[in-house]
Amino acid sequence: MSVHKEIRKVTTHVLSEMKLRGEKISMLTAYDYSMARLVDEAGIDVVLVGDSASNVMAGNETTLPITLDQMIYHGKSVVKGVKRALVVVDMPFGTYQGNSKKAVQSAIRIMKETHADAVKIEGGKEIIESINRIISAGIPVMGHLGLMPQSIHKYGTYVVRAKEDEEAKKLISDAKLLEEAGCFAIVLEKIPATLGEKVASELKIPIIGIGAGGSVDGQVLVIHDMLGITQEFSPRFLRRYHNLAAEIKGAVGAYIEDVKSRDFPNNKEQY
Ligand code: KIV
Repeated sequence: MSVHKEIRKVTTHVLSEMKLRGEKISMLTAYDYSMARLVDEAGIDVVLVGDSASNVMAGNETTLPITLDQMIYHGKSVVKGVKRALVVVDMPFGTYQGNSKKAVQSAIRIMKETHADAVKIEGGKEIIESINRIISAGIPVMGHLGLMPQSIHKYGTYVVRAKEDEEAKKLISDAKLLEEAGCFAIVLEKIPATLGEKVASELKIPIIGIGAGGSVDGQVLVIHDMLGITQEFSPRFLRRYHNLAAEIKGAVGAYIEDVKSRDFPNNKEQY
């Protein structure tokens, strides 16, 4: 007899319940079926198909080159591996800025073709028309403020954002605007912890931080960074839970040695 375990799917509603009862939200990126399956089976609440795929999967320096088709490919693969977590797909650069009709068409393609649960968009007031249209189409939107990697050429650096009063005020007003528009959550990236705390306490929707301190409602990291696959990237907010780069190189080294020494395959490993 098989034991049928009931899986309660994480929805945007579940996330707001978590905030209400003070339970922290865990979120990690994934870009492919196998990793998404592992992350979901480990019990993560939200899987983000981040446009950081541009960096860690495609080897680009920035997130700008990744296309809508490529994000849809990653999104489709991830959704197949996930049973419980909420799956959010990043809208890539150039698919929503400055044209709200195009924005809603891009978001519809993501939802139709990947079967993900929501999209994530970088920006505040400047892109509010796009956010309004996407939400009007019934698509849940996660906002993203603070350091916005798609705007790297505007700032020229990845330093901490909103340290000065004026930028902090704009971030707070953008966050409120996103909440009013109906976003179900907001990612805050690389900002002072005190500002993260203020936004999380003033808004009802969950605030997920990456370098935004411990008082926000949840945390997100790029999986390749937290597993230690990427080595060159070491910001203060990154906690590495493993040194997978060394493990992978060690295993590959052992395989090479076994092949060269004719140890692999042995008699039991052939037909
Ligand atoms: O693309 C991404 O991985 C992200 C996270 C850093 C939040 O947006």
